[in-house]
Amino acid sequence: MAKIVLGMVASHGPLLGTPPDLWAGRVKADHQNPALCYRGKEYTFPELLAARSHENFEPDLAIEVKQKRFDATQAAIKEMARVFHEVKPDVAVVIGNDQMEIMSDDNQPMMMVYYGEKFENVPFNEAQLKRLGPGVAIAEPNHHPAQPETYPGHPELGLHLIGSLIADNFDIASSIRLPEQAESKLTGIPHAWGFFYRRVMEDQVVPNVPIFINTFYPPNRPSTKRCLDLGAAIARAVESWDNNLRVAILGSGGMSHFVVDEDFDRKFMQAFSAPTHDEMLAFPDNMFRSGTAELKCWIPVKSAMDRTPLKMTVVDYQALIRSPAGTGSGMGFAYWR
Ligand SMILES: [Fe+2]
Repeated sequence: MAKIVLGMVASHGPLLGTPPDLWAGRVKADHQNPALCYRGKEYTFPELLAARSHENFEPDLAIEVKQKRFDATQAAIKEMARVFHEVKPDVAVVIGNDQMEIMSDDNQPMMMVYYGEKFENVPFNEAQLKRLGPGVAIAEPNHHPAQPETYPGHPELGLHLIGSLIADNFDIASSIRLPEQAESKLTGIPHAWGFFYRRVMEDQVVPNVPIFINTFYPPNRPSTKRCLDLGAAIARAVESWDNNLRVAILGSGGMSHFVVDEDFDRKFMQAFSAPTHDEMLAFPDNMFRSGTAELKCWIPVKSAMDRTPLKMTVVDYQALIRSPAGTGSGMGFAYWR
């Protein structure tokens, strides 16, 4: 039978591929965002600035502080890559979210398994780069290669997962060809997965099954409970797969963004490391909004790992703060082996 030998969760996001002196590029996006989500409420940038003025983020904005935190994230990603190469799984299940890159609201699956033989990671063309939000293009090499690359899928594991999840009462969507959308005009695997292929696998992409979770977009986002159940069901599927391969389960996204909530991130990491799911289930669902909701791509990895003897190591957590309103991204990295 197949065996789970590795679990990993990692944040992704433009700041991980942007030198700190250029983070102001993303602050433009914060100013343009009319609904910055923070602790269940939505703010404009001036409203958020006023609401958080007592937290005094000025020291976080010193270039030396930003550089130190950025360097720590780069070291953490290197460590994740080192562990990945050392464990050398034969195949991976990679859980991520689309951000209206190749999906759209004309048909948004809550959860989808990709079971195609291969798929592409395609760099943006000039016109697409121009349409990206402020400060995103510079970090593109973190997600997409310079030239289109074709990566191996794993149809056998994909189909086994679909069958096993259905038997486990998941009404799972499936895809054998990644969708393409007229609006975004983007093709290929979205950035959440690209980050793992580029920065953690370092382009040595193992055959893998991408699983999509709609973390961002109402009205059909899954609950924390459903994501925990999904992880356990993925683990059961791998355990019942009649194949001697060594499998990694990876989750991409989070932590708090585009408004950093360090207190929440640390509590989440605590709940994430806990032996039971009670603390995790106690978070109100409105904490998982906007980019922070990408943590729902981490949650299945935890419940899958809880079924294995693998031990969790938190590599690092850094609050990358880019504005006096506390916008930016909480960046966390952990693995089980
Ligand atoms: Fe993302």
